[in-house]
Amino acid sequence: MWKGRFEEEPALMVQQFTQSLDLDWRMAEHDIRGSIAHVRMLAKVGLLQEQEAEKIEEGLRRVRDEIAEGRFVPSEALEDVHMNVESRLTELEPLGAKLHTARSRNDQTATTVRLFLRDRLIALELSLLTLLEVLLNRAEAQLRVIVSGYTHLQQAQPISMGHYWMAWFEAFARDCDRLNFALSATNECPLGAGALAGSTLPIDRQITSELLGFDCPTRNSLDTVGQRDYMADVHHFASMLALHTSRLAEDLIIWSSQEFGWLKLPDSFCTGSSMMPQKKNPDVLELIRGKTGQVLGHFMDLLITLKGLPMTYDRDLQEDKRGLWASLDTVEAILTVLSPMLTRTEVDAEAARAGLEKGFALATDVAEHLVLKGVPFRDAHWKVGQLVKYCLHQDKYLKDLSLDEWRELIPESGPEVLELLSLEASVERRNTYGGTGFEAVKLQITEGRERLARMKLSLEKRRKKWDKSHF
Ligand code: ARG
Repeated sequence: MWKGRFEEEPALMVQQFTQSLDLDWRMAEHDIRGSIAHVRMLAKVGLLQEQEAEKIEEGLRRVRDEIAEGRFVPSEALEDVHMNVESRLTELEPLGAKLHTARSRNDQTATTVRLFLRDRLIALELSLLTLLEVLLNRAEAQLRVIVSGYTHLQQAQPISMGHYWMAWFEAFARDCDRLNFALSATNECPLGAGALAGSTLPIDRQITSELLGFDCPTRNSLDTVGQRDYMADVHHFASMLALHTSRLAEDLIIWSSQEFGWLKLPDSFCTGSSMMPQKKNPDVLELIRGKTGQVLGHFMDLLITLKGLPMTYDRDLQEDKRGLWASLDTVEAILTVLSPMLTRTEVDAEAARAGLEKGFALATDVAEHLVLKGVPFRDAHWKVGQLVKYCLHQDKYLKDLSLDEWRELIPESGPEVLELLSLEASVERRNTYGGTGFEAVKLQITEGRERLARMKLSLEKRRKKWDKSHF
């Protein structure tokens, strides 16, 4: 198609080396969609007659059917999805030779990718919203289940397990925001930027943009064909999402180990050992952690590809899709397995309680109680520290101490200190906004459900708008 000025065919090895079908053939439907919009615009501005446009569109639909039915096998000699579709179209309908009017593969490939990405991101958002729903449900079901909260992976303070699940709700809701940011960055129309400088022909970029459901045409043709920021935004979203799932996986792996022993993973999401009959391994979670590294790597791959590129299009950019597809596949796979696994992840409340009772997780509560009695917090902290040291020497826990022992080290202690030591009361007390108190968590859940409903609504709106461009 571009061989007019050449004396030789590209060498076979060059065809193989430069082809991008392995990366772009999956976008055939989106490429055809972009072409149909382009043809309709060409007819509107008079660059094609109505009947010509109809015939080309008809031809494009036939190519699409052939591809859908597996009757058309692309050829590497034609390099990519764009040239394969155009060449088949022209075989079926000679007017296909007019399709590429005022278009370059540089603006075409960017358009096709953006249309394809939109669909992938919408599907991913659906999976992400399912995860958010699962987390809300877990939080509600385990609101009153008390477990240890950790800092530095050392027992810190008792918390509601519902609070823990809502912490991940927050993280994944931010991922959803990042996804939507990436979607907006993606949703601008490159068509008409041409190879790099626009076109001498009287095209109307607004028309194509509207037909394809984009928010607007891109504003600078040089930038349009040479930039992949929207892909970096998608990578950022995918990386943060994967990273969050990896951290969550790490928690669950640790808490389900023999030594912590208070989290119960569903058998059907674990595997055994070929040698050790007693083993129940959290392989799914480990693989979530393991696959996350690849997602972060693909982000870096794109940034490194971009960093040395001169303005504008450079062929290096053809490789932009390799890591992106892999990352999208990976995060989709992670979400597919994570949501149902969490639905069936249970806490052994007794084991969690037993673990807490063998520690000093209520020490802050005692110090804060003293603050209410007028003791400066620093003094209270020191006094309770002394009390803990005493317990460690005596091989006791706070609840084993008699009132006399309390008074010895903390003269301000009254009989009410003994009542401080209930786990329920401790959690109950932390009802500051965003805290772990049962009421505070309930509020988080209520607000979370409202936020989720809004997210669902805006996703549905976007989906409906884009369905119109599914010619
Ligand atoms: N196959 C290429 C890609 O996916 C499109 C061709 C780019 N244009 C060019 N001047 N060679 O990016």
